[in-house]
Amino acid sequence: MQKVEQMTILENRLIAKDTYELKVTGALMNEMRTPGQFLHIAIGDGWEHVLRRPLSIANVDHHIVTIVYKVLGKGTAKLATKRQGDQLDVLGPRGNGFPVENIHDCNILLIGGGVGIPPLHYLGKQLLTQGNQIFSLLGFQTKEQVFYEREFGRLGEVMVTTDDGSYGKKGRVTDHVAQFKGIDLTFSCGPKPMLKAVSDLPLPGYVSLEERMGCGIGACFACVCEANDERGYVKVCADGPVFRKGEVVL
Ligand code: FES
Repeated sequence: MQKVEQMTILENRLIAKDTYELKVTGALMNEMRTPGQFLHIAIGDGWEHVLRRPLSIANVDHHIVTIVYKVLGKGTAKLATKRQGDQLDVLGPRGNGFPVENIHDCNILLIGGGVGIPPLHYLGKQLLTQGNQIFSLLGFQTKEQVFYEREFGRLGEVMVTTDDGSYGKKGRVTDHVAQFKGIDLTFSCGPKPMLKAVSDLPLPGYVSLEERMGCGIGACFACVCEANDERGYVKVCADGPVFRKGEVVL
């Protein structure tokens, strides 16, 4: 059962173009044990920010929760103005995260695109402590948008790609997957075309969907997505955001 709390902002800083790293603290962090779940954050201040924004957890460590978000509209632009000591209305954690409990001694490839990358960091940290070997393939549009290369480097080998070739390897992440040999399992989060390309790879794994949300608690149908089984559809906020590869239509 999710809870709501006014968490305290410790830091909110720009780490790449339009991309902020937000650190908060509060009792709610004790609930945030499953990577891939999301927090539903109320920005407040007027009707235009009335809907909560789903933001993913990039790390939980030493009483600090780290969220990485991109400024995509008025709500997240407002969030970027918040400062140390401000309170943040947080509902969560929500959704079904990555199933990590029984994964040991595997070669894991994390495949992330843009703002889909942050939850893979928290996931990679947990998988590393369970004896897995971590490889990361992180895709961005341009050099100025690159973030968390060093953080993923602490988990294992990292390859960065940019669409325009301004940093790392040129092209999409899926152009470079074949360079990682002996992979047992993939975990990916990013835009749908990327997830579709990853799902077409002959490797088992999980995908985490980024979907526009309304209520974030399974009540409004804003986030429905077609399922490949008898359910017909699933709600990303309640049934996901993490699904087995092939479970949903991408
Ligand atoms: Fe309302 Fe998912 S956001 S049902």
